[in-house]
Amino acid sequence: MSKVTVIGAGNVGATCANVLAVNEVANEVVLIDIKEGLSEGKAMDIMQTAQLMGFDTVVTGVTNDYEKTANSDVVVITSGMPRKPGMTREELIGVNAGIVKSVAMNALKYSPNAIFVVVANPMDPMAYLTLKSLGLPDNHVIGMGGALDSSRLKYFLSQAIGCNANEVEGLVIGGHGDTTMVPLVRLATYKGVPVSQFLTPEQLEQVAQQTMVGGATLTKLLGTSAWMAPGAATSYLVESIVKNQKKMITCSAMCYGEYGMNDIMMGVPCIIGRNGIERIIELDLNEEERAKLAASEAAVRKTDQILHDIKAL
Ligand code: NAI
Ligand code: 2OP
Repeated sequence: MSKVTVIGAGNVGATCANVLAVNEVANEVVLIDIKEGLSEGKAMDIMQTAQLMGFDTVVTGVTNDYEKTANSDVVVITSGMPRKPGMTREELIGVNAGIVKSVAMNALKYSPNAIFVVVANPMDPMAYLTLKSLGLPDNHVIGMGGALDSSRLKYFLSQAIGCNANEVEGLVIGGHGDTTMVPLVRLATYKGVPVSQFLTPEQLEQVAQQTMVGGATLTKLLGTSAWMAPGAATSYLVESIVKNQKKMITCSAMCYGEYGMNDIMMGVPCIIGRNGIERIIELDLNEEERAKLAASEAAVRKTDQILHDIKAL
């Protein structure tokens, strides 16, 4: 029996719960929100699709009642403000730090052995805050951003090549921010063949740029931040934990020495299984990629510092 709690029944949380159910990732999904009736309504709506979609997962909704989340294998934190057009993810830190810390502490009381997946933005500092506040082992707190950014990279590559996105492989590392993420186009492949055989350096640069502003582009179109791919990317990550799939997924992970970084949570390729982050994979980056990652590290570190400045840590 597996149980997943999703905190925040807004756009991303409800979509994540829906994908978890439709794909039968867990036996039980608990959706919890501070807003009276919202989780109950979203959960009931999802359950009314069960016989149409043919799934057996049971989704329930509760308002602020953490006892109902007890003994979860995974706790997903999506509660927090999303950005509006023109806003950066970093601008959300003041309000979201308080929300993330309090919900994480509440969930930990009832699920001390859970793996925590942090989605709320700015995601890397929120994952860092969660890890430091809960005092959990490093492998038990995972930031979700790279799964989404890598999926966007594969989408834009498939559009440029004119091929099926399922046949494209690629990774985005670094911070989950418009200017901090590092799409590794040099290492991306189409059917195992380097994408540089199909696209010019100019086209590859354009794909990298489209990926980096992928979230901002959608925020401008939608008037709020995206939720379909974020919800699905979160479910993809949770599935690798619950089913011990050991997939390699870029996640915000605590680094102690990896890529020359210390005491920082950033997007690096990880093997994800039942124990959360089971291994961090160190890729052989070239000089340009290393420089981009160093710039990304400096930017994330600056945002982490705000957590100290506002006394969240
Ligand atoms: P939303 O506004 O639709 O949902 C947020 C929900 O959190 C609301 O239902 C709200 O009532 C709830 N909430 C607020 N305070 C709470 C508390 N103390 N306890 C329980 N629930 C509480 O926002 P959306 O679009 O779902 O985004 C959620 C977060 O995820 C945002 O911070 C957004 O920036 C982030 N995000 C992160 C992504 C990533 O790749 N890491 C991708 C997309 C969004
Ligand atoms: C996204 O990438 C804003 O983090 C959110 O869609």
